[in-house]
Amino acid sequence: MLLDRVKPLDAILATAEKKSLKRTLGAFQLTLFGIGCIIGTGIFVLTAAGAQKAGPGLMLAFIIAGLVCIVAALCYAEIAAMIPVAGSAYTYSYATMGEFLAWTVGWALVLEYAIAASAVSVGWSGYFTGTILNEFLGIELPAALRAGPLALGGAEGGLINLPALIIALLMTWLLMIGTKESARFNAVLVAIKIAALTAFIGLTLTSAYFDPDKFNPFLPAGIFGGFGTGVGAVGAAATIFFAYVGFDAVSTAAEETKNPQRNVPIGLIGSLLICTVFYILVAAGAIGTIGGQPIMGPGGVPFPAGSEELARQCAMPQHAEALVCSNEALAHVLRQIGFSGIGNALGIAAFLALPSVILILLFGQTRIFFVMARDGLLPEKLAEVHPRWHTPYVVTALTGVVVAVAAAFLPVGQLADIANAGTLYAFFMVAVAVMLLRKQAPDRNRPFKVPALAIIGPLTMLGTLFLFLNLPTAAMLVLPIWTAVGVLIYFGYSRRSSHLGKGIIEVPEAEVDRLAPEVAGVGGEDVTKRD
Ligand code: ALA
Repeated sequence: MLLDRVKPLDAILATAEKKSLKRTLGAFQLTLFGIGCIIGTGIFVLTAAGAQKAGPGLMLAFIIAGLVCIVAALCYAEIAAMIPVAGSAYTYSYATMGEFLAWTVGWALVLEYAIAASAVSVGWSGYFTGTILNEFLGIELPAALRAGPLALGGAEGGLINLPALIIALLMTWLLMIGTKESARFNAVLVAIKIAALTAFIGLTLTSAYFDPDKFNPFLPAGIFGGFGTGVGAVGAAATIFFAYVGFDAVSTAAEETKNPQRNVPIGLIGSLLICTVFYILVAAGAIGTIGGQPIMGPGGVPFPAGSEELARQCAMPQHAEALVCSNEALAHVLRQIGFSGIGNALGIAAFLALPSVILILLFGQTRIFFVMARDGLLPEKLAEVHPRWHTPYVVTALTGVVVAVAAAFLPVGQLADIANAGTLYAFFMVAVAVMLLRKQAPDRNRPFKVPALAIIGPLTMLGTLFLFLNLPTAAMLVLPIWTAVGVLIYFGYSRRSSHLGKGIIEVPEAEVDRLAPEVAGVGGEDVTKRD
């Protein structure tokens, strides 16, 4: 019973055909779009949490997480080019594994997009309070207002992360009133981020402070700290995986891509490879200059990132300058090695660029909800489009409030870990869907085929499972608990109200799809029509 209700592929593809978006994107634009979605809080902020887990082994962590993302990206590329419709992993699962599993995937994607948006909001807050308020305006925001109670920014703790709450609500509002991020604007932000990271790499690697001894010991917490501990190089990889989240957005642009067979994989893998190289060099620059050894707790095990114990340690004078204690890791490094002005400029770059990542993630979330509501699995009211703004404003507002509340009260590392748990599940299911589809529909047109799927598919499944098991136990547990809530909703509501369950196989007007590309920043006026 649980594997029934497979949505016919033809109905899904008919939806795609109705949209008939123009194919305007080339490999270069797609790669730019990917980089725009990928670079964010992960590298600008979580570098500190990653170093606390792995020390200099953070560089290895970036490689491990990057490799898992590259094999997952290949799977995404095949299915996205084949089923180029909204809903991403949720839709692919609906077409292959049936409604129930698709529901669990859609439900897990909430963690990917909404909680990731919260994490990026908290990351932004660190740069806003550090660079803009502190450095430029000389305002010291009270500790109570710059970290949530569960996010002890210092030993004194916090009440609410006000900047994170405000930025999340602001982005929600912009999305509700139909703000579009044009491809050009995205390109400018990508240029800012790349310039900031390039300057960072250039200045740190050539700095007089750079000392190869800082990489010693390279793996102070080992490669493998034990499942559920979240430490060691693989523990750091499970957290830093967040730095790569967002590349799947490229797959959603497959339907607007010229020659997708060539360009979608170039866009996905190209953006991932470029980011991987940047990330490794940034980690090398940060650790080689100011060092990145974790603060060790009892038994020589690093204190958990984001924990109260670590916050207490960070409040001690001997750790005041430590990389692992900084809320704005990269700006902090530059300031420490005598480039305060450039450190502040990098802070401004993060301040300017991170909101666009929040916007893209929030947008992704509303799009998934919209499609689920359109399928009858969520109340139709949620999919209501505003008459003037032409946006799914109800679902956007609801999502925004949840994102803002999570951002206000939780620490960035834990939010990222939770988002990773949901994302890893979705990636796992995409690999399953690609392999199933090869069996179920071997003759369908596949604009791109994963080479050696018999190896890449299982590798993706193993890689995502492995990273999942290396998350801290608490983050890991969120996924089954969240799924259990989802299952209750499914059997309490969605199964009964499902359109497919009622025998309605519709080819809806792809309303959200028409709204999509503009906000996602890949399209533009030429590919979308407004009535
Ligand atoms: N990869 C994105 C970031 O690091 C989500 O902010």
